[in-house]
Amino acid sequence: MKEINTNELNIDEPLKIRCYPDPILRAPTELVADFDEKLALLVDKMRLAMGISDGVGLAAPQVGITKKIALVSYEDKFYVLINPKVLKKEGEQDGDEGCLSFPGIFAPLKRPGKISVAAFDASGKEQLYEPEGFLARVFLHELDHLEGKLFIDHLSPLKRGIIRKKVQKNNAPGENRSDKRHGAVE
Ligand code: NI
Repeated sequence: MKEINTNELNIDEPLKIRCYPDPILRAPTELVADFDEKLALLVDKMRLAMGISDGVGLAAPQVGITKKIALVSYEDKFYVLINPKVLKKEGEQDGDEGCLSFPGIFAPLKRPGKISVAAFDASGKEQLYEPEGFLARVFLHELDHLEGKLFIDHLSPLKRGIIRKKVQKNNAPGENRSDKRHGAVE
């Protein structure tokens, strides 16, 4: 687990996606205090990494940065969620979920159907979002990342065990590593 120092962020070097079981995915994250050019650069670099990986969402720990920053890109809209807070959860939905940190792995997962989220944007302005359905799922998945929580934590121990084994198999030397990264949620 190598943490990236955001003070030494190199504009030319792309951010790399960290995959499970990288312990940084479980590390505590800090609140963002400064809404400055460094933050804007970091958000741009995260957006690029998300785009390259074809993801609908990306949280800072997934690129080695332990800060409360998550991005969501869905249906031509782009959301920057800094220091986000869930204010309300309603209803329920079923759907498959995946994650950029678990290439090629998907599992059905129940989530609330509609939520209210307050978050700061990159300029430090507080915004309120009320996503429903799939967008609510993506928001919740990304917000979980900022608490060191992964989608597999919502599954039964049995299903979690199966996924761990699959990941080990994918990571085993000599095996064909699955680089498939398209997911319902990242
Ligand atoms: Ni994820």
